[in-house]
Amino acid sequence: MTKPGGPVRVAVLVSGGGTNLQALLDALHESPIARVTRVISNRPDAGALARARRAGVPTTVLRDANDPAELQAALGDAQLVVLAGYLKLVHAAVVARFRGRMINIHPALLPDFGGPGMYGRRVHEAVLASGVKESGATVHLVDEEFDRGEIIGQEKVRVEPGDTPDALAARVLEAEHRLLPRMVLELARRIG
Ligand code: GRF
Repeated sequence: MTKPGGPVRVAVLVSGGGTNLQALLDALHESPIARVTRVISNRPDAGALARARRAGVPTTVLRDANDPAELQAALGDAQLVVLAGYLKLVHAAVVARFRGRMINIHPALLPDFGGPGMYGRRVHEAVLASGVKESGATVHLVDEEFDRGEIIGQEKVRVEPGDTPDALAARVLEAEHRLLPRMVLELARRIG
């Protein structure tokens, strides 16, 4: 199914290595449904930027990630926004513009193990310390708070006996790489 206006234009916001971005680039590069059209980072040294450049996708490095006008301009004509390892809170004005069209991926089963400061290794340490038997990846709509918007998809993974934070993180990351492209395509079909 090809969209009359072409694939839905997806902007991806990143701060880190960008393996989730890579999963999107790989899944969407010839998709008629959605395409990554811009990658935006608050950090000039984010490994994700190199992945975007290798894929021929335009990049923007924000000079001031707290400036909503700069982010609005960088997002340009994007129709869907994906936070893929983006560590800054998105300004309310930008959230409002993309309400229902901006998603985040989190490496645990929200609503647990989320919120301010819950990112990276800390998430997996908290999961292991709690003794739960399952973790996983969550995709949710972005609202004005960290990790609190409506959950639109999850993929569970088992917590194995003897898991370290790194081992659990690696298992969750594989789930993220499956879940995120699936959710982007699903949302793009709805809004495109
Ligand atoms: C992922 O675990 C994601 O859920 C979290 O930050 C990590 C980013 O990894 N928000 P990468 O930059 O996509 O490799």
